Amino acid sequence: MTLAGRTAIITGGARGIGAVYARAFAAEGANVVIADLLDEPGAALAHDLQGAGASALFVHTDVTSDASTEQLAARAAATFGGIDILVNNAALYMALGQKKPFETLTTEEWDRVLAVNVRGVWHCTKAVVPYMKQRGGGKIINIASVVAFSGTPGFAHYVASKAAVIGLTRALARELGDHRITVNAVAPGLVANEASRQLNAEPYLAQAVGARALKRPMEPDDLVGTVLYLASPASDFVTGQTIVVDGGAIMD
Ligand SMILES: NC(=O)c1ccc[n+]([C@@H]2O[C@H](COP(=O)([O-])OP(=O)(O)OC[C@H]3O[C@@H](n4cnc5c(N)ncnc54)[C@H](O)[C@@H]3O)[C@@H](O)[C@H]2O)c1
Repeated sequence: MTLAGRTAIITGGARGIGAVYARAFAAEGANVVIADLLDEPGAALAHDLQGAGASALFVHTDVTSDASTEQLAARAAATFGGIDILVNNAALYMALGQKKPFETLTTEEWDRVLAVNVRGVWHCTKAVVPYMKQRGGGKIINIASVVAFSGTPGFAHYVASKAAVIGLTRALARELGDHRITVNAVAPGLVANEASRQLNAEPYLAQAVGARALKRPMEPDDLVGTVLYLASPASDFVTGQTIVVDGGAIMD
């Protein structure tokens, strides 16, 4: 129970990999706040975690909205007495629908992806930092992607957004260091989940496995140890970093 008594907000926690993080934080004893647009799965997951003895709360949240993210932080702090950890996981990924050449992206598609994937990180961070300062410290973990390094074709707006998350992580780490708030990013490789299967026709997933030092499909659980580490006191002197978790495909 390394996170007993800590309060962790997981954005985009209602489904997909975010839901796996929510379960893992609950298993480590944290109070878990699931923040997502998806009411039904979000509330069901919180209910499920409560049934297993965890402290959990679902808050309907749009990460692109100042008002919504401020309300999220206020509800989390009022319910659990403070905020210690923020996992900025919400993104438009499965919602991209399909890959397409950069010239065919519309301005609306570009702006929407940047609004959720980058501006959303800024909104959520701004909303929780006052509560972390009250606590005398905090942990912010931003979910980027290896596509920021590989430049994978077919979703230039998404690639640009994840590269921006890495830059934002470094800027926030510098600005928040004096408050003992660490800010780090995790860059996952291609996870063999529903979202990736929708976006990538075979043989793409098999090729991704072949490019790894560790040649097997990547599961959401493969990310849990790194995210928990960055949320725990074990990483207290680590900030501004991006940890690639991809089975050894990218080696920079
Ligand atoms: N699946 C992969 O292979 C992979 C690889 C690298 C990085 N990632 C990243 O990991 C994270 C999770 O990926 P996933 O596969 O679970 O994706 P997903 O698309 O299934 O889940 C994204 C979640 O974010 C939520 N969300 C979207 N817009 C929101 C908004 N405006 N406000 C609040 N919540 C919102 C969605 O409702 C959903 O629950 C994302 O940041 C993604 O970019 C995924």
